[in-house]
Amino acid sequence: ILGGTEAEEGSWPWQVSLRLNNAHHCGGSLINNMWILTAAHCFRSNSNPRDWIATSGISTTFPKLRMRVRNILIHNNYKSATHENDIALVRLENSVTFTKDIHSVCLPAATQNIPPGSTAYVTGWGAQEYAGHTVPELRQGQVRIISNDVCNAPHSYNGAILSGMLCAGVPQGGVDACQGDSGGPLVQEDSRRLWFIVGIVSWGDQCGLPDKPGVYTRVTAYLDWIRQQTGIEFVEHHHHHHHH
Ligand code: ARG
Repeated sequence: ILGGTEAEEGSWPWQVSLRLNNAHHCGGSLINNMWILTAAHCFRSNSNPRDWIATSGISTTFPKLRMRVRNILIHNNYKSATHENDIALVRLENSVTFTKDIHSVCLPAATQNIPPGSTAYVTGWGAQEYAGHTVPELRQGQVRIISNDVCNAPHSYNGAILSGMLCAGVPQGGVDACQGDSGGPLVQEDSRRLWFIVGIVSWGDQCGLPDKPGVYTRVTAYLDWIRQQTGIEFVEHHHHHHHH
């Protein structure tokens, strides 16, 4: 995360570190006690569940929980050239016992309003500058939703933002996800103080450049896919609060 601040334990209780051979590789989000939502491109080099673990807790050096991975489901139509359908699910070997500091994020309704200009937060252990190193303590960045039309302007992404994508950033740049944040959440809080995952860190032109905001997988476009893969029925909302 570029231009963010250090997170406190329990602030983003759904955030996990997806670790390949025990090195941080990507972020992810618990969507219930068995499944982590993340990005397909995280598994381009290796999609063998045996080589992966997930950890919970703000420190990757001293995690609060280690989780074994049973299965990795990558979207069949993920296209690396265009970043289309950059979404994957990780099924854990054992179900997680939730605590106040470790629990799931809500999935949005298909119709959930995500207005341009509204505030969102992106979190992760990614680099604090382009081509920088990942960090051992979780960080958070505050950004705003940008409409696909604005994001597709010629001086911005010039048509590369497809309907399954969502842009978020700040007008002058300077706050963004970066390498190592991929797969992690972009979340928004509603009036009931419930937190929803609206995006998955996917791609961007470097990090934090003006007119080159972060591009996220638009979660509302993949609810049917998530339902098909997991069998989760998400009609009711649980009262998951953000702890400060
Ligand atoms: N693809 C990167 C990763 O694997 C994340 C890119 C996000 N970039 C951005 N400028 N928001 O970690």
